[in-house]
Amino acid sequence: MSDLAAFIRGLPKAELHLHIEGSLEPELMFELARRNGVALPFASVEEVRAAYAFSNLQDFLDIYYQGAGVLITERDFHDLAMAYFRRVATDGCRHVELFFDPQTHTDRGIAFSTVMDGLLAGMAEAERDLGITSSLILCFLRHLDEAAAFATLKAAEPYLDRIVGVGLDSSEVGHPPLKFARVFAAARAKGLKLVAHAGEEGPPEYVWEALDILDVDRIDHGNRALEDPALVKRLVHDGKTLTVCPLSNLKLRVVPSLKDHPLRTMLDLGLKATINSDDPAYFGGYLGQNWIQAADALELSLAELITLARNSFTGSFLPPEAVARHLAAIDAYAEGSSPYS
Ligand code: HPA
Ligand code: ZN
Repeated sequence: MSDLAAFIRGLPKAELHLHIEGSLEPELMFELARRNGVALPFASVEEVRAAYAFSNLQDFLDIYYQGAGVLITERDFHDLAMAYFRRVATDGCRHVELFFDPQTHTDRGIAFSTVMDGLLAGMAEAERDLGITSSLILCFLRHLDEAAAFATLKAAEPYLDRIVGVGLDSSEVGHPPLKFARVFAAARAKGLKLVAHAGEEGPPEYVWEALDILDVDRIDHGNRALEDPALVKRLVHDGKTLTVCPLSNLKLRVVPSLKDHPLRTMLDLGLKATINSDDPAYFGGYLGQNWIQAADALELSLAELITLARNSFTGSFLPPEAVARHLAAIDAYAEGSSPYS
């Protein structure tokens, strides 16, 4: 391992943009398909991996929803979560705010409680055995309608003390944040935090809507905000965290190469960017790999890496005492080890 990779792996960090269904590796997909008697349209793990060549977000989403069809039992959701946590434990990940898409499962006849109980069991085990804390963000699928989102929020009612916030994901273009203004207001009234995918493929106007109409606490992705200087100014002024996903952006052709990725520009502009994996099983790398490849391609400095690590905690929904503890751990680590000394 290079000095830079070793430094990054040891640096305490949080992941704020991770779709747990997007951590389903082909091997586990096959195991669950066998366990549950679900037919897959692929003959082998290699065939699945070969299908992961995407031209855009929708290409990916089609295969991602198909893969999620093997998740049936509470144990499946537990195993999915634990496989992810075991993997990021080796990346120096200390805290995760994970997205889940209940509609992808309830629309197939899986009970909301099956999804929740399985994920919560995995999260408790990860905290106990790996020392990784986590919380859940319920995402509404934006290609479905407002009534379906309201029904999902209602189904979540018994679990609201175990869900930190709501988000908005799936096909962005044609499904602006405005479509979910009322359901986000209802979620806010229940004390939930709010985030939304905006500016991944959608225009800067969608980021404005996420801010002005949904009143989100964070923007997921936000790349296209850079097209609008007034929007950048607003995001900087508000100190709004962007959950940026370098390898996802590469695989979904949001950027032509990692060297062209706007992460460094975002930091230079004063935007509060973070590094995340999005759907690591599909995009070729978990949290650590996103950090290492971005740092390498963009030649990020030690100070930039530390800023990114700090942003991952100050942009989290952790209580202030926990944020302070993680920031102190970053400071102690940075004093004790440098990849450049
Ligand atoms: N964008 C939108 N929806 C998603 C994504 C993404 O990157 N990953 C999983 N659902
Ligand atoms: Zn995402």
